[in-house]
Amino acid sequence: MDEDSRIADVDDVPEETTLLFTVREGFDEVEAILVRRDGEVQAWKNYCQHWTDVRLDKGDGATVRDGEIVCGKHGALFEADSGYCTYGPCEGAVLTEIDVTVEDGAVYLTDDDYEFVERGSTIQHDLSSNRSLGFQ
Ligand code: FES
Repeated sequence: MDEDSRIADVDDVPEETTLLFTVREGFDEVEAILVRRDGEVQAWKNYCQHWTDVRLDKGDGATVRDGEIVCGKHGALFEADSGYCTYGPCEGAVLTEIDVTVEDGAVYLTDDDYEFVERGSTIQHDLSSNRSLGFQ
């Protein structure tokens, strides 16, 4: 597996919250989150399906409760392993998946549409409006 695509050790991916990272998609950098449930790790783009300018993880981890990611804005719940919204204003919608693979205790980005940039976010956010200031 390519070291440049190594996002994190599996043990670094929390079960009660999310781990934020940045990927390049074409010329843009976008945020994504890792979440772990029952030892399985999934990656999703870091925005709600209700209002797509709302980040699920605002930099300090999204709440994950009973295996579901909680959107802090209006309380939508997304299954951590399927991305499916089980409750809230966007019920039935699905988070945008990013392919990752676990190998030898580490999580690697294996989605040809994206390139791993770094853990955390490289994107500047206007906290007052919750909108990104960068190109996203
Ligand atoms: S923006 Fe996430 S539930 Fe409304």
